[in-house]
Amino acid sequence: MHDFWERAACGEELYLTGDDAYNHQARTRYELEPYISSFADFEATRDLRVLEIGVGLGADHERFAAAGANLSGIDLTRNAVEHTRARLERRGLTSDLRIGDAETLPFGDAQFDVVYSYGVLHHSPNTAAAVAEVHRVLKPGGIARIMIYHKRSFVGLMLWIRYGLLALKPFEPLASLYAQHLESPGTKAYSVDEARRLFAWFSEVQISTELTHGDLLTSAAGQRHTGLLLNFARKVWPRRLIRRFFPANGLHMLITAVK
Ligand SMILES: C[S@@+](CC[C@H](N)C(=O)[O-])C[C@H]1O[C@@H](n2cnc3c(N)ncnc32)[C@H](O)[C@@H]1O
Repeated sequence: MHDFWERAACGEELYLTGDDAYNHQARTRYELEPYISSFADFEATRDLRVLEIGVGLGADHERFAAAGANLSGIDLTRNAVEHTRARLERRGLTSDLRIGDAETLPFGDAQFDVVYSYGVLHHSPNTAAAVAEVHRVLKPGGIARIMIYHKRSFVGLMLWIRYGLLALKPFEPLASLYAQHLESPGTKAYSVDEARRLFAWFSEVQISTELTHGDLLTSAAGQRHTGLLLNFARKVWPRRLIRRFFPANGLHMLITAVK
């Protein structure tokens, strides 16, 4: 898992291009996932103690820093931490950035007003342990904003068609298809009920889902997915139908939880 992300941080190969690479990657990111800004609520974090877990290329981290958060960030890989550090330095922004593991956070109890983690905790082998750590480092009344994958998504359906049905394994469990074929080995996805159980530690939990560019096939897919079948699907994918009748079957599950 570590090696998968160390080879190329999230989106590095697809979006970190050109002279103005970090700005280009950020523009593409917020065009493809416009709901990030309201979910992360960057502007509201001025002077708050904020921890981001799994900074990746650091686009969101840069926005917390620019908003004036008192910021810390960790990632499992040196590559991600170095990208994020370089990204902040070019704008004279600062953060306490460290290599670290979500399952054993290198911080004391009740330190942060906000813990943010976008598309990370479902990659960690023991996601429940990582959520318990989020709870531990939050101050009482602090807010966790966490995106993890939603199981009953169109991305899940595509995985089933490609690696279940067409591979003559129609009964392969969805969990095993996500684990083997989506991103890093062992990636998980959750139903809304499972996510509620995961966040049972918290006093208040709100969960919503978003149809993503992956569900709608409106972008190049992730680091692992290419090929003729995908190109064909892009041409015939019923995007309007999906938006209209299945808005709750998106891959991204946005969880806001109060300690
Ligand atoms: C899909 S990328 C997401 C990065 C960034 N949050 C974003 O939205 O672009 C996943 C990131 O999480 C990091 N990661 C995976 N497991 C982790 C763990 N247990 N602790 C800390 N970081 C982890 C990976 O190294 C990678 O940078």
